[in-house]
Amino acid sequence: MYQNIFDTHAHYDDKRFDADRDKVLASLPEKGVVGVVNAACDMASCETGIALAEQYRYIYCTVGVHPHAAQEYTPECREKLAAYAKNNRVLAIGEIGLDYHYDFAPRDIQQKVFADQLALAKDLDLPVVIHDREAHQDTMDLLRKYQPKGILHCFSGSAEMAKQIIKMGMYIAFGGAVTFKNAHKLLEAVQAVPLDRLLVETDCPYMTPEPFRGKRCDSSMIAYTAERLAELQGILPQSLLDITWENAKAVYELDSTF
Ligand code: NI
Repeated sequence: MYQNIFDTHAHYDDKRFDADRDKVLASLPEKGVVGVVNAACDMASCETGIALAEQYRYIYCTVGVHPHAAQEYTPECREKLAAYAKNNRVLAIGEIGLDYHYDFAPRDIQQKVFADQLALAKDLDLPVVIHDREAHQDTMDLLRKYQPKGILHCFSGSAEMAKQIIKMGMYIAFGGAVTFKNAHKLLEAVQAVPLDRLLVETDCPYMTPEPFRGKRCDSSMIAYTAERLAELQGILPQSLLDITWENAKAVYELDSTF
């Protein structure tokens, strides 16, 4: 069994955990999980994430509005996010970004909401957690403009884009997609990321790694993702988990005695 699994991105407030959330969360430490960051996707999930993070000492959270929910974002949301961020269980602003695959909100609104939250993170001196789906060019343009610190989550870009993100000082997180059979381009990107900027995540309940694809995911399944990443990086899976835990503490600015 592996140790030191730190899941940098999960959605335990998702309704797919309603039936057994506490059971799943309580079982994580015995499966080698040392920490989880619950990522908010709208204003309601900011509050549920904070509640979970206050209930479990190994759970932290982010606050922010996902591009899917961009139309609910108002100037008052910004004030509320700033207030939430005062809670020491809140580690970052996220997940924020652009999603041109689903286009749940018009792109100009997504861009405005993303930019406003990048500015908020700057004001608060907090890292960001970025969602970029089929919006690489516009995401890169806004990252260049605001120069945030933080994570590009569920990375789906090219090796070249990964190099540019690294050059900006950011970290890159990979999830279950690296275990999928069609992941060729993604695997090249993994190899472009230096070990000291690499993170692992589940994005659970989504993005379940093989061999469980199609089932609900939880943080313990990072083991399968870590095995694939370790193979690509030429190290042992446990070493990869040890290193990515250290990276997670660095990017989320968690106390080194954690
Ligand atoms: Ni997510």
